[in-house]
Amino acid sequence: MTAPGDFRSDTVTRPTAGMLRAMTEASVGDDVFGDDPTVAALQARAAALLGVEAALFVPSGTMANQIAMLTHCRPGDDVLVGEGSHSYLYEGGGGAALAGVQFTLVGTGGLFDAAELLAAVKGPDASGHAPPTRLLMLENTHNRGGGRIWAPDRFAAVVAAARSRELAIHLDGARLFNAAVATGLPPSTWAARVDSVSFCLSKGLGCPVGSLLCGSEAFVRRAHRYRKMLGGGMRQSGLLAAAGLYALEHHIERLAEDHRRARRLAEGLARLPGLRIDPAGVETNIVIAELEPGAPTPAAFCAALATAARALPFGPRAVRFVTHLDVTDADVERALSAAASVLGEGRGP
Ligand SMILES: Cc1ncc(COP(=O)(O)O)c(C=O)c1O
Repeated sequence: MTAPGDFRSDTVTRPTAGMLRAMTEASVGDDVFGDDPTVAALQARAAALLGVEAALFVPSGTMANQIAMLTHCRPGDDVLVGEGSHSYLYEGGGGAALAGVQFTLVGTGGLFDAAELLAAVKGPDASGHAPPTRLLMLENTHNRGGGRIWAPDRFAAVVAAARSRELAIHLDGARLFNAAVATGLPPSTWAARVDSVSFCLSKGLGCPVGSLLCGSEAFVRRAHRYRKMLGGGMRQSGLLAAAGLYALEHHIERLAEDHRRARRLAEGLARLPGLRIDPAGVETNIVIAELEPGAPTPAAFCAALATAARALPFGPRAVRFVTHLDVTDADVERALSAAASVLGEGRGP
């Protein structure tokens, strides 16, 4: 029997044969001593791609975001994030526990504008009542927002507003290359405007491990200390960095295929009864569909689909499908046929 297409996340990919070969051929050294040439090469490549001075290889996107908060903030500071932000919802309370910050949510759906940002800024306040807002964290693409892209003009306006209030800015660009490929713009369009930016190798780029935290030389020097503090100093990590270099060479342009498949999936799902989704809102590789009242719950829907396609319950009424390196056109068609069997044939082509 054919294995079901796994649409739960773009983190489920297996390294390709070419990537594994690059890993086994990597030159390595002890990176805690600064001796690993492949890690150094990956960091230099990442910084150049993003148009910033320096980069630091870290084990995960979560650690990159946590280090960013530790580096930019002091305990008691306030951090602005869009609704559904990964750091706010999914990092185990790390922002509060490790950096000692509190979060304020801005806008709805993850993206927001300059006026909404300015309305959320707290302090400075001579009386000391307000927790000072120190950092703005933006997410591009926005995961819970359905892989939405920050339009460059809107992004620039929000960044300018944050600067006017002297906020530091971190971009959680876990899927920044999806935004770049979908728009045809270089990742520096977003990255070069902010103080720090992270991107993940272990999502659409198909690596087993790793993220890069990027910014100025001074920022990365300070971040390096926090990486050590959090236990993220790695030894012969050139093995992993080689996978990253391979992915930056071979797996960026192909993200367009993931986006095409996500759009096809969304268009097919939109025709089925009981599911609400706007295919035009699917800008990259994430498809979030709402199950209408009367339709199965997300858990029941995913269970009914499971022999043909694995999807993720994503809130009380939503399911998420993510396309990636290991999802084929046939997987998409099978998922659509299975969804039609569960929900009924629906509204025609
Ligand atoms: C937007 C975003 N940021 C950060 C992360 C965290 O990455 P990791 O799973 O590598 O810790 C994720 C993971 O899905 C994510 O979607």
